[in-house]
Amino acid sequence: MKIVPSAQASNVNLPKGISRIRSLPDPSLGELWDSIVLDDALKSKLLNQAVLNFTLRPKVSRSVIPLHGVIFLVGLPGTGKTSLARGLANRVAVSFKNRASFQLLEIEPHMLTSSAMGKTQRAVSELFSQSIAEAVANGPTIVLLDEVETLAADRSKMSLEANPVDIHRATDAVLVQLDALAEQHPNLLFVATSNFPQAVDSAFISRCDLVLEVPLPGESACARILDECLLGLGKTYPAISKLRTSPQVAECARECVGLDGRTIRKMVANALASTSQTAMNPESVTAHNLLEAARAAKANRGGLPK
Ligand SMILES: Nc1ncnc2c1ncn2[C@@H]1O[C@H](COP(=O)(O)OP(=O)(O)OP(=O)(O)O)[C@@H](O)[C@H]1O
Ligand SMILES: [Mg+2]
Repeated sequence: MKIVPSAQASNVNLPKGISRIRSLPDPSLGELWDSIVLDDALKSKLLNQAVLNFTLRPKVSRSVIPLHGVIFLVGLPGTGKTSLARGLANRVAVSFKNRASFQLLEIEPHMLTSSAMGKTQRAVSELFSQSIAEAVANGPTIVLLDEVETLAADRSKMSLEANPVDIHRATDAVLVQLDALAEQHPNLLFVATSNFPQAVDSAFISRCDLVLEVPLPGESACARILDECLLGLGKTYPAISKLRTSPQVAECARECVGLDGRTIRKMVANALASTSQTAMNPESVTAHNLLEAARAAKANRGGLPK
């Protein structure tokens, strides 16, 4: 199916497997990149590798450096991988904004998998060889391949349940297509994510130009995430900003070590729901409510409430 500009603008009638297309730069993705608290060195490493993809690959033969145009972000759930991937696409587009207009394609792997024998493989091949190849013809393209373990499952670990032959073939198809696209389209970058890297095929990992582990936030990162969350809430509820300097909030940040960024932000919402009063009037939340919510989140870490 040809990607027509109207489908692109409204994101309707997109080819199978593509859930969204965005023109870049997109300021909301700039905010997303800034909102993820991560060591500056790691953010730079990620951005530099992505930029290099678009400077080096069109000019240097693959016989010199066999780049595939794939960056792989791995890490625990809620550590910001998908947000970083989207934000990265925007940052790359900003870096080249006077030279080309970029687009971001988001792939929904579950839209491709099918219980019918051979269908997944066909859908994967079509997505890569037709839809993505056609999109790159419109300009430099970044493709977000979220939860890549669904498409590039480790063939050596497949049991005979589900439909392993089909899944096996889907992985084969991804590898073949990545090789073909790497040869033909240097203006293409895949950013893949997974929180099950051990379930991803080693031949896929071998094709990645950079595998970056996105870590859990450390103590100062936890403090920053909490602070930015309170600052953000303070725009609507000014009294909440005042809690930022409370010693109990500093203690709360220390309590958050070991939690992922998503859980920390949700913990703040739990604190706002501490009582019927705070739920009705979030501005009445106290530093004590936050500390209690952080302790509860820590106690429930990695599972359901105990
Ligand atoms: N390091 C961080 N700094 C600030 N916020 C974070 C951080 N990590 C996660 N978050 C928050 O958690 C939310 C979820 O992040 P995201 O969906 O990108 O995580 P993920 O790693 O892709 O998770 P999953 O593996 O479950 O798909 C984001 O909206 C962001 O607000
Ligand atoms: Mg994700």
